[in-house]
Amino acid sequence: MVRLADRRAPLSEHWIVTVDTIIYTRELRKTFRVSRRRPGLLGGLRSLFNPIVDEVLAVDGVNISIARGEMVACLGPNGAGKSTTIKMLTGILVPSSGTAEVFGMQPHRQRRAVAQRMGVVFGQRTQLWWDLPLRDSFDLLRYIYRIPPRRFAHNMAIFADLLELGEFIDTPVRQLSLGQRMRGDLAAALLHDPEVLYLDEPTIGLDVVAKHRVRSFLQELNRERGVTVLLTTHDMSDVERLCSRLLIIDHGRLLYDGSLEAMRGHVDDEGTLEDTMREFYERTSRELLV
Ligand SMILES: Nc1ncnc2c1ncn2[C@@H]1O[C@H](COP(=O)(O)OP(=O)(O)OP(=O)(O)O)[C@@H](O)[C@H]1O
Ligand SMILES: [Mg+2]
Repeated sequence: MVRLADRRAPLSEHWIVTVDTIIYTRELRKTFRVSRRRPGLLGGLRSLFNPIVDEVLAVDGVNISIARGEMVACLGPNGAGKSTTIKMLTGILVPSSGTAEVFGMQPHRQRRAVAQRMGVVFGQRTQLWWDLPLRDSFDLLRYIYRIPPRRFAHNMAIFADLLELGEFIDTPVRQLSLGQRMRGDLAAALLHDPEVLYLDEPTIGLDVVAKHRVRSFLQELNRERGVTVLLTTHDMSDVERLCSRLLIIDHGRLLYDGSLEAMRGHVDDEGTLEDTMREFYERTSRELLV
């Protein structure tokens, strides 16, 4: 499992490419170039003409293979590289090196074709139209994705019911509470019947009732429609409730790929999953810094 000593991402037993593999990465890397400002006023001026450029290795050789119908949680401390990985899989970011393939296509090269078959929700920001009522955002998406009217009506009815959108569907998005907005975002990401759903912190800031509703919805989506789900979260109950497979990323490297049960076997702690994860992060951090 964890082989930090050779400083390379391990190829886990889950990294098997079959006909069912729909998300595939091989030695996937992303480096950001960021300019740093020198301290002080003069330094600031100097930096305008001669910036100091640092390289941040956000994702460092990640190998992932996810089969159709799986529900996988990607965990890791802040700044680990989870969102960057998801952004490369959605085509928002271009990999610096390595391969990312979804449905056999490179997301950043075939953005439209991949977008037609995927849905994505970033918990931290909405993809809905801020000033429009939720219903109008859905209508716009119907045109953008060219969703057939009957399909659209069918999906709307199901999602409005499961996510209980009824009481705020005519409210402008900017007036929605976080939990209401998140439910709206989830429905919006699914109206075009995507085969894959990426969720970057889908339960952030939700109350216990809203969390329960969103989790039940995701379970049903996976079970009934066979939607493949890759989610990131800091909430261990999301993992316990939804995902049997975990990916743990730290410092841009994939450090664990396996079941929740096997994960518990790797640490001494007998406590909650949160305790287990904390011990895992602390241990790997120490090893990575050696
Ligand atoms: N656009 C960007 N420009 C420069 N650096 C970035 C950019 N986006 C991310 N990074 C850096 O890449 C690293 C990984 O960030 P990322 O957002 O993928 O982390 P994360 O695992 O999603 O963390 P969190 O749990 O806090 O959401 C961090 O060091 C971050 O500062
Ligand atoms: Mg993130």
